[in-house]
Amino acid sequence: MIQDPKRKYIPFVPIKRPNRTWPDKQITHPPIWCSVDLRDGNQALVDPMNVQEKLELFHTLVDIGVKEIEVGFPSASETEYEFLRALIDGGHIPSDVTIQVLVQARPHLIRTTFEAIAGAPNVILHFYNSTSTLQRKVVFHKDMDGIIQIAVDAARLIRELSEPVIRSGVDLRYEYSPESFMGTEMDNAVLICQRVLEELHATPERKVILNLPSTVENCMPNYFADEIEYFIEHLPSRDCAIISLHPHNDRGEGVATAEMGLLAGAERMEATLFGNGERTGNVDMITLAMNMYTQGVHPGLDFSDINKVKEVYERVTKMKVGERQPYAGELVFTAFSGSHQDAINKGVQYMRESASDLWEVPYLPIDPSDVGRQYEPIIRINSQSGKGGAAFVMQTYFGYDLPKAMHPEFGHIVQLETDRVGTELKPERIYQLFKDAYVDLEAPYKLVKHAFTETTDDAGRSHVSFRGTLRHKDTVFEVEGEGNGPIDSFFNAIHGQKMDRFTFVDYKEHAIQSGSDSLAVAYIQLRDSMGRDYFGVGVDHNINLAPLRGIISAINRAVSG
Ligand code: KIV
Ligand code: ZN
Repeated sequence: MIQDPKRKYIPFVPIKRPNRTWPDKQITHPPIWCSVDLRDGNQALVDPMNVQEKLELFHTLVDIGVKEIEVGFPSASETEYEFLRALIDGGHIPSDVTIQVLVQARPHLIRTTFEAIAGAPNVILHFYNSTSTLQRKVVFHKDMDGIIQIAVDAARLIRELSEPVIRSGVDLRYEYSPESFMGTEMDNAVLICQRVLEELHATPERKVILNLPSTVENCMPNYFADEIEYFIEHLPSRDCAIISLHPHNDRGEGVATAEMGLLAGAERMEATLFGNGERTGNVDMITLAMNMYTQGVHPGLDFSDINKVKEVYERVTKMKVGERQPYAGELVFTAFSGSHQDAINKGVQYMRESASDLWEVPYLPIDPSDVGRQYEPIIRINSQSGKGGAAFVMQTYFGYDLPKAMHPEFGHIVQLETDRVGTELKPERIYQLFKDAYVDLEAPYKLVKHAFTETTDDAGRSHVSFRGTLRHKDTVFEVEGEGNGPIDSFFNAIHGQKMDRFTFVDYKEHAIQSGSDSLAVAYIQLRDSMGRDYFGVGVDHNINLAPLRGIISAINRAVSG
């Protein structure tokens, strides 16, 4: 890198628009979507798709609900031509889907393109030539009049060749792109597009798509939006055009450019799945669509099974979707930080308790299940996770609602394990740690057998007698006690044994569904004479027995700790 980049790079000069209105607008409806995956996306692949792969991606796009699909550049290569014929002759195009074909504004290529589309019922013929100051200077060596002439001549030829096609009943529409629009003087962009509209005899009933690409993203999205607003305001035949955008992503701002461009008045969006395309790619259709969705605007596209879309995309393009790709990346519904996990935990609980339909979970901008993602991969426990993370997993995956006071103790057990193994822990492993530490703890004390008898006195007060056989290591002994409930009678029964140095602090019990029947889970908090607290967990089908198991679990933890 050089010290003074001004000596090398020409900064973008924004147009002056003090009266801009787009910043106060909102996106209230989706644009007309056009996928350019099979053309712009495909041409940028190291290993372009074959006909079968393109067909599979085409069907995926149709299933998502895209109604306009640019299928290729049929005059450019034999494979492109073949694919188009396979689509048309194989009857793959649903009647409500329009295919779009791209062609340079050159007469012989335009003629070949007309041959290639024969038999297709709905077609957008998309032609383009480059208009930017840079391309005029270094590539075409032409002034703006020469560039306009190329577009106008192409438009005239297209209209002539279209006449018999339209007469035969084909719904043939036109699209014109002033390629590298973002580097074109705005008045020149307006001028060339207006001339094309006139030459194509565009009317409000037969609008022509004017596609304004940021072929190479060269400025901040707000400047681009100013250009779009200016263009729309100054185009004389505005009502005869559909304004389309085709943002690339060279500055990593493609989505913002697209969104601000929509605010500025664009009506149509050319995009690709996962932002595939030349260099840094085209704008990502999924992010754009899902961003709208989270603002309450249905995008008109269906990404309910985003994993399937990703699977097809990765297979046919041989590209990888990054782990942090919005909405689709492997890690985007994962919280590693403990405080995030705690907040997610509270959000999920709040939603359950309030029974509200509104999504109000911190750190998760969208309900993962809306895109077919499970709660499963939401949270992973690693050495960075806090005390609430493990409890969250126990609740979300296994239905155990650990008392708040127990979170640090169990969190510490999980933490020790993550430090030991050095990797994240899957929910099943966390469950196993919980069982090992609390539920399956049968030594040194074990309840071998027991019996309760319950009576009520004349005042309706409950009276419980407990008799049981306990084992401590190899010694088996009998205990019995009375109390006003199962826990009380059990505590009285063990009075005088070594187990009685604990006082009872707290107790919580709830049911969890296990297959078709339910289990009772009791969490017991005991305190020893030194003031140290111990938790125990008992699980049993019998609601009276679960707490006793919990008490023994807590004592076992205390005496073996
Ligand atoms: O990026 C671009 O300008 C294009 C045009 C052909 C629309 O892909
Ligand atoms: Zn492009």
